[in-house]
Amino acid sequence: MFVKNGWYAASWVKDLGEKPVARTFLGEKVVLFRTTDGKAAALQDRCCHRAAPLSSGEVIGESLVCGYHGLRFATDGRCVEIPGQKEIPARARVRSYPLVERWSVAWIWMGDPAKADPAKIEELPWLDSPEWTATPGYLHLKANYQLLIDNLLDLTHVAYIHRRTIAGDPREATTPTKTERLDNGVKVGRWMIDFVPPPLFAKAGNFTTNVDRWQHVTWKAPATVYLDVGCAKTGTGAPEGDRSQGISIWATHLVTPETETSSHYLFCFARNFKLGDPTMSKLLYDGSKATFMEDVEILELQQANVAGGSIDGLVDITADAAQLQARRLMRQMMQAESAPA
Ligand code: FES
Ligand SMILES: [Fe+2]
Repeated sequence: MFVKNGWYAASWVKDLGEKPVARTFLGEKVVLFRTTDGKAAALQDRCCHRAAPLSSGEVIGESLVCGYHGLRFATDGRCVEIPGQKEIPARARVRSYPLVERWSVAWIWMGDPAKADPAKIEELPWLDSPEWTATPGYLHLKANYQLLIDNLLDLTHVAYIHRRTIAGDPREATTPTKTERLDNGVKVGRWMIDFVPPPLFAKAGNFTTNVDRWQHVTWKAPATVYLDVGCAKTGTGAPEGDRSQGISIWATHLVTPETETSSHYLFCFARNFKLGDPTMSKLLYDGSKATFMEDVEILELQQANVAGGSIDGLVDITADAAQLQARRLMRQMMQAESAPA
C-alpha cells in the first residue's frame, strides 16, 4: 500500500539525461528521459502498440521513439507518429506522469494528475544554494520504504548501527528526544551537550575536544526527510543559536517506494563549511554513503523478518514515538485515498 498523491523523488537532476532510464515507482514501470531541448519527462514504460518497454527506445528531438516499431511519443504521452501510417488512433497514447525539477531533484507524481501541485514540493533550498555544498548519492534498498522512514525518525539506533561513522558517545543511546506533530509530518530532535564527537564529524570539523551536538529530524509525508545536524565546540553557544564554532549539515533523505519490498534511496549531505572543497566533499560523500549503507544492511535483514515492512504485533518502546506518529499519518492518508469519492 502506498500514498499515491504526493511528490516522490524520481532522480537527481544530474542523473537525468537523454538516455532513457527504466525505473519502477510504487509498483509501476516508468521511463524517465530528457528531450533534446532539455525538458524532463516521465512516461509509462510500456508501449501502447505491443507493450515493448519504451526505455529500450531512444530520444529523438522532443519525443521518445519506441525501439520496436518506431512509434513516436511526445512528453505528454500522445503518439505523434506511426511509421507508414497517416491516421493516429486517439487511443494510441501512454500514461504520462507529472515531473518537476526543483532543488536538484526530479519529483514525480504517481497519483491523480489533477491534484499534482508543484507548490507542495517540500522546500529543500540547501540542495542547490551557493551557501551550501551538496554531495548527493543513491542507494537501492531491498526493504519496504516505511522501514527506512522509521529508521530516519529513530535517533537511538545511531549509537549501535553507526559506531564506526556518526556515533561518538555511548550516552547517545539514552539521550531523550522531543517529538512534535506537524500538519503533514513529524519532527523529532535533541541536543547532546558536552559529548564526544562522532568520528566523521570530528574529522570534518577538526574537533579534538567534546562538542555540543544537535540532531533535528523533519519528516514530511509521504517520504521526504531532512535532518539539521551538526556539532560545535562545547560551551561556544550553539544551543543558544551561535553555531560559528561548529559545522552544520542538512542530511536529506528522499525515499521512493519501488515495490512493497524495495525502495529507491536518494541521500545528500549539504554543508556550510569548506564550500566547494573537493577533499571535504569526498570525505562527506564517502562518509555519508558508508553510514547509510550501515542502515541498508540492517533494514534488509529486518525486511527478511517482516512481511511487507509491517511492524504489526511487535513491541513499541518510548523512542518509537515519532515513527508511530508518522505511520499513523500515512495510514490516514492511505485510507483517505482509498475511500470512495
Ligand atoms: S511495441 Fe512499440 S512500436 Fe511496436
Ligand atoms: Fe541510520
